[in-house]
Amino acid sequence: MEGITKEELYRSVQTIVKTYIDFYDTLREKKAVTIASDDVIQKLRNIGFSKEGRELDQVIHEMIETIYANQAIMQHPRFFAFVPSPASPLSWIGDVLTDSYNPHAGTWLESSSASCIEQETIKWLCQKAGYPKTAGGLFVSGGSIANLTALVVARHAKLSEDMYFNGVAYLSQQTHFSAAKALRIMGLTTEQIRIIPCDDQLRMDTRSLEKAILQDLEAGKKPFVVVATAGTTNTGCIDPLHPIADICDRYDLWFHVDGAYGASVLVSNEYHHLLDGISRADSITWDAHKWLFQTYACSMILFKNSHDLANCFSSNPEYLKDAVAENDEVNYWEWGIELTRPARSLKLWLTLQTLGTDKLSEMVTHGIQYAQRLEEIIKEKPNWEIVTSAQLAIINFRYAPKSLSEHSCDQINEAISHKMTENGFACVLTTQLKGKTVLRICSIHPETTEKDLKETVELLNKYAIEASEEILS
Ligand SMILES: Cc1ncc(COP(=O)(O)O)c(C=O)c1O
Repeated sequence: MEGITKEELYRSVQTIVKTYIDFYDTLREKKAVTIASDDVIQKLRNIGFSKEGRELDQVIHEMIETIYANQAIMQHPRFFAFVPSPASPLSWIGDVLTDSYNPHAGTWLESSSASCIEQETIKWLCQKAGYPKTAGGLFVSGGSIANLTALVVARHAKLSEDMYFNGVAYLSQQTHFSAAKALRIMGLTTEQIRIIPCDDQLRMDTRSLEKAILQDLEAGKKPFVVVATAGTTNTGCIDPLHPIADICDRYDLWFHVDGAYGASVLVSNEYHHLLDGISRADSITWDAHKWLFQTYACSMILFKNSHDLANCFSSNPEYLKDAVAENDEVNYWEWGIELTRPARSLKLWLTLQTLGTDKLSEMVTHGIQYAQRLEEIIKEKPNWEIVTSAQLAIINFRYAPKSLSEHSCDQINEAISHKMTENGFACVLTTQLKGKTVLRICSIHPETTEKDLKETVELLNKYAIEASEEILS
């Protein structure tokens, strides 16, 4: 073993396992966010890279103390900002195992069993989405790459190459920015990306969508894809899937659903019906590192017809010709952007095998019901307003006494969030909705308790009173 002895290896693995278990066991006592001090950053910059190397124990210790200690703990039960990542220890075990054997999941030759598990896991997810047997897909690093993969396939399926310059894609004001980013990566100009307004519930307005498509057709452009969202990042709302699917059918457009956040509701026995219509999508983005409790980076892109994928990405380099996939086998490099890729499916498969699908359903259901409970708790507090009701575990609200101007309320809510971040008890950040600064909570952690919610609201209220005094004095 170059650079490490067997004893050092045993010792360091034991340290890491113990440190991880302690970390997970005491999550609730930790600050939800810690930002490295200037001193720590300077220390990290000064370490440099020595010619002769250093003691492994020392490096590991330093990393735990100075790197991992300074971060937002996305799996903290009171980390409510962005889309948290309540990663299960089972996913961590899957990661450790997979990293140990390091399979190359690009070809069947290199990872036949892992590729088979990827197929089986994708098949199960496709069934959850209500897809037919023709469906398929693959694991990718995240929602952004899943969206990019889907949009590349959509353009390939709907436009001939000489029409790429003329193609138009339709997003909404609430579509995650990764979709527009993907389109720009693909070479679309701003002129080729239409941002459709939303209705008062912040869902894509389908009348405006159809109007925009008709205008573009009349102008000789080539509409090719509509991106709907199942669980928007800001509010958790679901675009009207059936009406959008009808429009896509009518004009022969690709229908992509970004369910990076919300598609996980498909595994909830109680709430999967909320995504009715998703089976009509040509492709679905679904992040496992959000609400399927996986460590980064683990996401899926599903296609109603797996041939669309193969048609788009397949190529035939001479040095890979011995790695042909036959019959039911798949060479995943022919289905996506990556050639060398880790076997991301294995940790999700291990989690599913161990928990069982009923437990997984309970864990997702918990998030939805806790957002509903949080809404009740906030409503009991005077001077607080619900801006968007609990939808798929996301709720937006603000401190807004009637006597204060909108501007003062914006300042106060921003200050509340800063104070909470500084304290670290919970992480509650702001977003902008309907021109207002609001506080946003995403409650998908399955171990968040009612006590966590109540204590967080109490503290927000305390900071609201403090911030009002400071800002209005
Ligand atoms: C709806 C939606 N789509 C796409 C993304 C991007 O996903 P990722 O961060 O995994 O690239 C996010 C991230 O929050 C999201 O909420």
